Amino acid sequence: MSSDTAPLAALTFEHLSKTYPNQAQPALNNLNLSVPRGSRLGIIGRSGAGKSTLVRLISGLEQPESGRLLIDGENPAQLSAAQRRNRQARTGLVFQHFNLLLQRTVLGNVTLPLELQGVPRAERERRALALLDKVGLAPYAKRYPAQLSGGQKQRVGIARALVTNPTLLLADEATSALDPETSASILQLLTDLQRERDLTLVIVTHQMEVVRAATTHVAVLDSGHLVETGDTRQVIASPQHPVTRALLEAHRPAVTPGNGQMLRLVTLANLGAQTLSTLARLQASVVQAQAHPLGVDAWLLLPNTVSEAELGALSGAAAPALKLSPLAEVL
Ligand SMILES: Nc1ncnc2c1ncn2[C@@H]1O[C@H](COP(=O)(O)OP(=O)(O)OP(=O)(O)O)[C@@H](O)[C@H]1O
Ligand SMILES: [Mg+2]
Repeated sequence: MSSDTAPLAALTFEHLSKTYPNQAQPALNNLNLSVPRGSRLGIIGRSGAGKSTLVRLISGLEQPESGRLLIDGENPAQLSAAQRRNRQARTGLVFQHFNLLLQRTVLGNVTLPLELQGVPRAERERRALALLDKVGLAPYAKRYPAQLSGGQKQRVGIARALVTNPTLLLADEATSALDPETSASILQLLTDLQRERDLTLVIVTHQMEVVRAATTHVAVLDSGHLVETGDTRQVIASPQHPVTRALLEAHRPAVTPGNGQMLRLVTLANLGAQTLSTLARLQASVVQAQAHPLGVDAWLLLPNTVSEAELGALSGAAAPALKLSPLAEVL
């Protein structure tokens, strides 16, 4: 997210500001950021920070008050109406509450964006079924949304968002309504699709574990200001702003380390025999664990003499899957 990546930027914000009518405070205040193509950007911040406003600006649902927003180098404000519609079709949106049409089948929901584009029926059904297969829902094509679980509804939402072959996928709190395990599987699906289709993925969340699990870059919003940005690994390893630190600490269990102990968050591939014996050797105990797209997120209480190398080996040795991902280095 620096100027030397600008030619490849998928998204650029230049002095971007937005104040809603009759509001004293801007929802977004002078944002500057360049997001490389093919990255997974996490936008994180407390409630009311301006996250959804930013998504609405990127998706064209709202217009900036001042400053510029460039998508793949284009300023939507300078496009013709037809070009702007085309741009919007290349921007997929996934919502917290799925926003499915209840009276339409799963297939009918996924084909809808193509119907609006005038794509012939056979072609739109072929494309929708291919995507439903991709998200693991081909057998559910004829069901109605009320007959699906939350995770399945979100898979339909993702298929619908991708059916127009977007280059940019925006997910606003896409996992917030789901239990941790389902949330992890949806994040895994989003990251897999991002890699396969070379998308730029923007994930809006108030949960730092979502950022840890699924993003390459992070932007922290607070009261409409961009207070910290950077490579996810670096920001997590060395958060500079108090808001970032507070968000990182939010899920810390209520355990006070004793003398000579520390509490650390580590992602393990699993809690199998090998991992457990390594934890025992390091005199580490798991005080809290939850599903994570790459395994299990575990808060460990352990002697503060355990080195970073030993912690790294704990993740790496136990977790061949982690080696496939740069996220391993976050740990
Ligand atoms: N349509 C609107 N009209 C007026 N003010 C709005 C509107 N939408 C949002 N706001 C205000 O803009 C600010 C940013 O809201 P936004 O929805 O972008 O926050 P958010 O970070 O997405 O919060 P949350 O985590 O709760 O979803 C808030 O102060 C909010 O009250
Ligand atoms: Mg929001």
